[in-house]
Amino acid sequence: MDIIIKENYQEISLAAASIIADLIRSKPDCVLGLATGSTPLGTYRELIRRHKEENLDFFKVKTFNLDEYQGIGIDLSKPYDQDRSAARFMHEELFKHINLQKENIYLPDGLARDMNNFCAWYEQEIVKAGGIDLQVLGIGSNGHWAFNEPGSSLSSRTRVQPLAQQTIDDNYESFYKKSGISKEAMPHFAVTLGIGTILESRHALMLANGEKKAAILAKALQGPVTSAITASAIQTHPGKVTVILDRAAAAKLK
Ligand code: GLP
Repeated sequence: MDIIIKENYQEISLAAASIIADLIRSKPDCVLGLATGSTPLGTYRELIRRHKEENLDFFKVKTFNLDEYQGIGIDLSKPYDQDRSAARFMHEELFKHINLQKENIYLPDGLARDMNNFCAWYEQEIVKAGGIDLQVLGIGSNGHWAFNEPGSSLSSRTRVQPLAQQTIDDNYESFYKKSGISKEAMPHFAVTLGIGTILESRHALMLANGEKKAAILAKALQGPVTSAITASAIQTHPGKVTVILDRAAAAKLK
């Protein structure tokens, strides 16, 4: 596992974008696994800049997103702040600014009627695409990866997962509160890639910044591997692993 410590968020974002851009330039039809959340935003902005100013070409790239709230779907007729789907986040923060082809964008469908069927299909599409070359990951404050909440099996596959209260609270504060949505209206379930699925990616790129993530990161990276902190599965990832942190997030590492 390579742990890279940067001075600040901007440097994390530049380093992560460079890893992704290098992959796209060496393998133009690569498969990216993408995450939502505030952490990868700077990385996405830098990728957009490189697309516009340095011809970084996404034409053949395929993307698979990690998760989506159940019961929520993208609604482009609504203003962005009223549509808090992960799909809308990706559209606004990355997809609409680059030349990814629509048919190469895969997103978990929070509105799927037959969720089991959908989850099996999503897994099959990842396999058909040749597997995920590079998976971008953040970490939730309870140590989750995607929406694999504490207690999720470390060999879990794509499925519907009830959200932990801490996740509901965090996401309300970060994303929903400013849209005027009441806490009671928060989604309580999500469809998420499993930990087992994430571990099949060839390269895991985990990003974290800020002191709020320091304690959970130290546990995930250097504590026991446990389903109580699903991101601790990173220690068992059989492929390449890169973790990029700022000094604040790295403060509790040994
Ligand atoms: C959500 C997402 C995760 C993400 C986490 C951290 O729960 N499902 O994939 O890593 O939030 O978000 P942030 O980057 O805003 O701290």
